[in-house]
Amino acid sequence: LYGERRPNAKGVDLSDIRELDALAKGMQDADAQTWRGIPLIGGGQTDFDKRSAITVKSPANNDISVGEVVWSNEDDIEAALAGAAAAADGWSATPGRERAAILRRYADLLESHMAELIALCAREAGKNIGDGVAEVREAVDFCRYYACQVEDEFDGEMLLPGPTGERNTYRLVGRGVFVCICPWNFPLAIFTGQVTAALAAGNAVIAKPAEQTCLIGHRAIELMHEAGVPRDVLYFLPGDGPSVGAKLVADQRIAGIAFTGSLATAKAINKTLAERDGPLIPMIAETGGQNAMIVDSSALIEQVVADVIRSGFQSAGQRCSALRVLYVQNDIADTLLTMLSGAMAELSIDDPWKLSTDVTPVIDAEARDGLVDYVEKTRQKLDTIYACELPEGNGTYVAPRAVELKSIDDLGEEQFGPIVHVIRYEAENIDDVVDQINQLGYGLTFGIHSRIDTTVERVVRRIKVGNAYVNRNMIGAVVGVHPFGGEGLSGTGPKAGGPHYLHRFATERAISRDT
Ligand code: NAD
Ligand code: ALA
Repeated sequence: LYGERRPNAKGVDLSDIRELDALAKGMQDADAQTWRGIPLIGGGQTDFDKRSAITVKSPANNDISVGEVVWSNEDDIEAALAGAAAAADGWSATPGRERAAILRRYADLLESHMAELIALCAREAGKNIGDGVAEVREAVDFCRYYACQVEDEFDGEMLLPGPTGERNTYRLVGRGVFVCICPWNFPLAIFTGQVTAALAAGNAVIAKPAEQTCLIGHRAIELMHEAGVPRDVLYFLPGDGPSVGAKLVADQRIAGIAFTGSLATAKAINKTLAERDGPLIPMIAETGGQNAMIVDSSALIEQVVADVIRSGFQSAGQRCSALRVLYVQNDIADTLLTMLSGAMAELSIDDPWKLSTDVTPVIDAEARDGLVDYVEKTRQKLDTIYACELPEGNGTYVAPRAVELKSIDDLGEEQFGPIVHVIRYEAENIDDVVDQINQLGYGLTFGIHSRIDTTVERVVRRIKVGNAYVNRNMIGAVVGVHPFGGEGLSGTGPKAGGPHYLHRFATERAISRDT
């Protein structure tokens, strides 16, 4: 789509020693610096050096200090809201092609800073090299995809039909101030996707990163400013949910919210919106999932094992798209689970900085303790099929684990880590399995492995999810190729990286003139 106007993001050929050497050198050079994550609120201030800073520790090794973060205070929040509200109309009046050109420049900057960004993702978010490359590429893809859409749909106005003596037009304009609230698990890609979509559609933006990944967010916003986004149009407010996010969403000056994170936070924001004064505004919410995969006895077991490993354990299972519940037809369950255990035994659970690492630490001690606690408390209900050994050291690692559940009724809340629940089913019950998955109420990703076309068709027609994957893994949606987002408890849509996303950030104006 969009041909030469949307070049593929540059990758890194991890099998080419020259590219690897260049990447390693770039990462090492970048790692020598102390990264900072401070509020970015226009040009004027600041007294940040006098404020107390939080030292960011690496999830892979809590002895490594990655950088320093200064959280936003009340004055910063007020300055950002006032500044963004004042700048919004001017930015919306900027021709769409100018906004698109800035997005393209930012994409180029992301590519030229790839080694630094991969290093930062490894240090602050615990992402391995492959995931780091994917973060940067997805961010680049978002920019170029939305740039094309802005050029095609947001530049100028559309002429509509009408009777003689009347000229009718339609245009898309920015809504005002958009607040973008991001999770830590895609601190560059989702962060960039939200912010660039809001900017592209003509909004001033206040970006609030997850408290765990303020350094990455800060660097991304610096590069956006360098690409040409005016500083009075784009603000960065590091801080946590209660002290920054909740205050922003309660403010009457904001015109929309793009939120990605947990269902609980999405509900809290919705409640605030329902109770506050001020205009009715859109909230785009992308939340969690209890993503299932069904494997029937016709499936190619070697392929299934590779796809389960990738879907369940890549990024330490910290993807909203990750596999949580694996339904296996009883006839092949023993063979499949034996092979899965063998493949899990081969996983390298290690430092994100190493190219050979498959499974990285989880984001922080709170996440690790929650997952360990879950395994402890549900020991009665869950039979461990296989649990990996953990490396020694001072990182927040959680052992990848496959556990067997007797029934879906024993499945609790989304566990955001490397735990795959397995349930056996009998062939004649496959329709009940689909009902059980739908009844969970989430609707993000789903996988099916079957070589029987009629089974695939019947299941895919009935399953209620945003992204269904057939005979492949179920993570790693590509911008413009797999528009991403869920339904039900998993989100409101429209899909990120899809044809309708930008429209939700804009307001529509129809103008009818007597000529
Ligand atoms: P979270 O809800 O704890 O935090 C997300 C963001 O919301 C953070 O920036 C946080 O500071 C902010 N926040 C928290 N409370 C707030 C409040 N009261 N008001 C305003 N902002 C507030 O989620 P998380 O732990 O960072 O991320 C993990 C969750 O995100 C998982 O449930 C995962 O499935 C989901 N997720 C969904 C998608 C998707 O596209 N559907 C993608 C990534 C992650
Ligand atoms: N878009 C991300 C994926 O598909 C969440 O894994």
